[in-house]
Amino acid sequence: MKKLFSLFLAVALVGCILSFAGAALAADKIGVSMPTQSLQRWNQDGANMKSLLEAAGYEVDLQFGGNNEVPVQVSQLENMISGGCKVLVVAAIDGSSLTTVLADAKAQGIQVIAYDRLIMNTDAVSYYATFDNFRVGVLQGTFIRDQLKLDSASGPFNIELFTGDPGDNNIIFFFDGALSILKPYIDSGKLVVKSGQVERAQAATPNWSTESAQTRMENLITSQGYGPNGTKLDAVLSSNDSVANGITNALVGAGYTAANFPLLTGQDCDVTSMKNILAGTQSMSIFKDTRTLAAQVVTMVDAIMKGSAPEINDTKTYDNGTGVIPSFLCEPVFCTKDNYRALLIDSGYYTEAQLTQ
Ligand code: BGC
Repeated sequence: MKKLFSLFLAVALVGCILSFAGAALAADKIGVSMPTQSLQRWNQDGANMKSLLEAAGYEVDLQFGGNNEVPVQVSQLENMISGGCKVLVVAAIDGSSLTTVLADAKAQGIQVIAYDRLIMNTDAVSYYATFDNFRVGVLQGTFIRDQLKLDSASGPFNIELFTGDPGDNNIIFFFDGALSILKPYIDSGKLVVKSGQVERAQAATPNWSTESAQTRMENLITSQGYGPNGTKLDAVLSSNDSVANGITNALVGAGYTAANFPLLTGQDCDVTSMKNILAGTQSMSIFKDTRTLAAQVVTMVDAIMKGSAPEINDTKTYDNGTGVIPSFLCEPVFCTKDNYRALLIDSGYYTEAQLTQ
């Protein structure tokens, strides 16, 4: 009986020690808020962030804002704040809609990292990590300039312009970056935007929606008479792949084939777009390795949690209305059917089968 009692005591003691140790070792929780699951890239970003943060010893609350639904993202952030998250990593659906909820985060000492898209009009954002968004546009504009040989060919060439969601601060950089290359040729008349829709607001695509882009391209085809047997369309600037997919659908619907397809840019190297690039119904995309961005943000989170200064490489570009946010910019690269293998397959981003099946 005595033996049994001491065994019971020992077990109770070990249990106690383990639960104390468990409490002491309880992982810090990090909130990761992504805009939507409807686009391939945000699924990848979310999954990469979760697995890298967990590997670094953190608990992760990963949420997607429905289908780009701002109120859903706001309530998910409220839950992360009340649920004890120590750092919030946020890719905003609408950069200007998080001021109130992030004021709560700040009041509770929770630090916020803006992920990929800058969050505007809030002093709660400590850091911003993204790709060099202006450079994305420059790469797209340069591709069109070089392919059309705008410096030597006589032209004129017809082009139409598409960018993304007006609530996404990135489109200012994507569009302005591309126009920094193309505008001199538009001004000189070598590039002609027949629709006259040259302003960013006119070129915008709500929610980066494939369907909206398709409808706008169909309307342009009708109103300008573009077609393989009609008015020649030489190029379409698209800021990303989901928009490019809609443009491709409209152009294919109008009878264009790989043999006479207008130049068409994109961004993200989504599987659908890579298949289009291989089939000749999109010309290029921009590769932004989401693994690199996620890894960089995890080092930022870790530095914040350990009280040290995260690595940044830009302190002048991104003013969110309350001042410049210290940023880390990753390098985007352009991708075509000529270099996709080295960029995407050899690096393990995709298997060849994913792009050919
Ligand atoms: C991202 C792009 C993405 C787009 C649509 C932008 O903010 O930078 O990579 O294609 O949103 O989700």
